[in-house]
Amino acid sequence: MFRAFSIVLFVFHFSGVRLHVDSAQSTLFAVRGGNITLPCRFWYEPELSSPREVRIKWSWLPSAGGRETDVLVAIFPHNKQIICDYHFLLLVLRRDFPGDASLLVTDLHLNDTGHYRCEVVDGLEDKSTSVDLELQGIINCARSDCGVVFPYQHPRGRYNMSFHGAQQVCEEQDSSLATFTQLFQSFKEGLNWCNAGWLADGTVQYPITRPRVPCGGHGLAPGVRSYGRRDRHLHHYDVFCFSSSLQGRVYVLQSSQKMNLTEAELACEEDGAQIAKVGQLYAAWKFTGLDHCDAGWLADGSVRYAITRPRKNCGPPEPGVRTFGFPPPHHKHGAFCYKPQNQYI
Ligand SMILES: *[C@@H]1O[C@H](CO)[C@@H](O)[C@H](O)[C@H]1NC(C)=O
Ligand SMILES: *[C@@H]1O[C@H](CO)[C@@H](O)[C@H](O)[C@H]1NC(C)=O
Ligand SMILES: *[C@@H]1O[C@H](CO)[C@@H](O)[C@H](O)[C@H]1NC(C)=O
Ligand SMILES: *[C@@H]1O[C@H](CO)[C@@H](O)[C@H](O)[C@H]1NC(C)=O
Repeated sequence: MFRAFSIVLFVFHFSGVRLHVDSAQSTLFAVRGGNITLPCRFWYEPELSSPREVRIKWSWLPSAGGRETDVLVAIFPHNKQIICDYHFLLLVLRRDFPGDASLLVTDLHLNDTGHYRCEVVDGLEDKSTSVDLELQGIINCARSDCGVVFPYQHPRGRYNMSFHGAQQVCEEQDSSLATFTQLFQSFKEGLNWCNAGWLADGTVQYPITRPRVPCGGHGLAPGVRSYGRRDRHLHHYDVFCFSSSLQGRVYVLQSSQKMNLTEAELACEEDGAQIAKVGQLYAAWKFTGLDHCDAGWLADGSVRYAITRPRKNCGPPEPGVRTFGFPPPHHKHGAFCYKPQNQYI
């Protein structure tokens, strides 16, 4: 008798009451090593006079691929704060206000990015919302060699730059001439490049990690080979530029169709951004793990793509920024854009 009564009451009470779940943002950008709160809130309409028991579940689909996995489950209002250490993620369920099911993720690693889903279950009702987590830049990087070195060839072709010209193209790509220490650090990290380039001290060198015939032959040991100091006006080479971590964010422009160079520039501008420079693409590849197996225009008129997870049909087996050189500007490709400010940290 009592049971039946309470069921009637339940149905009466919940007719017309709806559960809502919402996240204030769809994409969040965080820095490596930092903390971030993934927002999720739930409420009822019309409002309830007393709290009901709900089940909160956060799950994660890593951007590196794989299956969606549950990272945290909590029952409200009993579990006030749940801490769950999963894959080196420290997750803390926050409850700053009624209906707050936000997730705090601490000490972010490059591999913590992906699609996070917050699901709220109340009896038969089940609502969810999701947030994409992306990383940008790095923090606590004050060392002078903390950045990325990249070889650069002039659009006119191989060995076409005086020292001054080399300095200028690096600046145009949001970078500076690399020092010997920076090049040597990159060599230790695996940079292997068979074309000689200017360095900041006016010497011309190139790093060889895998000796081969066109690069001095098999007889020479791996190392940074030097042509010594060259005449800054008379001699012409390629260049090694250095780009430090970014203040902003490089992203792939979402567009339904491929663009020529002018269209790519305009499309980035219409998105409140600029077409990305080569140094920015390298920094995003190195520090935020940018991985996109589809070539896009850059500001210098080159077409490149960045791979952190080498796979079939995406170039050589090593991670890297691949280049297609400087195709005619009417060719159609994707685009990489750069937004200098981060609005969400
Ligand atoms: C991140 O959160 C943890 C746990 O609340 C805290 O100990 C740490 O200081 C925070 N780190 C930063 C960079 O705010
Ligand atoms: C994520 O990266 C960290 C630091 O580089 C590493 O210790 C951890 O094993 C990685 N986790 C996974 C799931 O690959
Ligand atoms: C640079 O390229 C231009 C155009 O191809 C060519 O005329 C010029 O001789 C080149 N300069 C050097 C130093 O190679
Ligand atoms: C790109 O296409 C537009 C038309 O959409 C055209 O006006 C422009 O001249 C083209 N630019 C190049 C470099 O081909």
